Amino acid sequence: MTSRDDIALWDAEAEAFDEAADHGLRDPGVRAAWRSLLVSLVPAPPARVADLGCGTGTLSLLLADEGHAVDGVDFSPAMVTRARAKAEGRRDVRFVVGDAAAPALDRAAYDVVLCRHVLWALPDPAAALRRWVDLLAPGGRLVLVEGRWFNGAGLSAAETVRLVEATGRPAELTLLPEPAYWGREITDERYVVRS
Ligand SMILES: C[S@@+](CC[C@H](N)C(=O)[O-])C[C@H]1O[C@@H](n2cnc3c(N)ncnc32)[C@H](O)[C@@H]1O
Repeated sequence: MTSRDDIALWDAEAEAFDEAADHGLRDPGVRAAWRSLLVSLVPAPPARVADLGCGTGTLSLLLADEGHAVDGVDFSPAMVTRARAKAEGRRDVRFVVGDAAAPALDRAAYDVVLCRHVLWALPDPAAALRRWVDLLAPGGRLVLVEGRWFNGAGLSAAETVRLVEATGRPAELTLLPEPAYWGREITDERYVVRS
């Protein structure tokens, strides 16, 4: 369950969301770093991708630009409005308002379930992960970008690996300490887990 307060909080973040280097990917170097990382983690196009908690749709659009068909889901109408505006006129990416923890998407249909910086905030991440695994077509993969940030929020890499392994799937961890991803030096723990 999500609360209206949570949605209102994220709605309030939407206007300035893309100003952070890793959110809007406006810096060509930061964009190139994420493109290269994601291309290395997803199958060759065309793949069907679910981007859960997609925010303003930056990663969805990046993958659509690579030739993938992307469904983005976010519970914040303001985030989805911005994502749709960025995708105007495109047919390769679709954004819907909905709960990432229980996405109303086709089961066994996705080659990739991508989630960046959302799993940690869900009330029951283990249950959400089980539902995300159900969205995967045979051979499909989870790509989870998460972190344990300097303010104590988030999930440690070990916690995320444990959560993925509890679904019965393997987990492959890559740490992401390079400033190229964040537009600055970082001192906290940021990573991607692929399964
Ligand atoms: C830190 S932002 C990350 C956005 C995007 N994944 C990215 O990396 O640019 C977290 C996003 O998750 C969304 N979110 C949080 N909890 C959610 C939920 N239960 N269902 C859908 N979206 C959710 C928020 O509205 C926000 O857009």
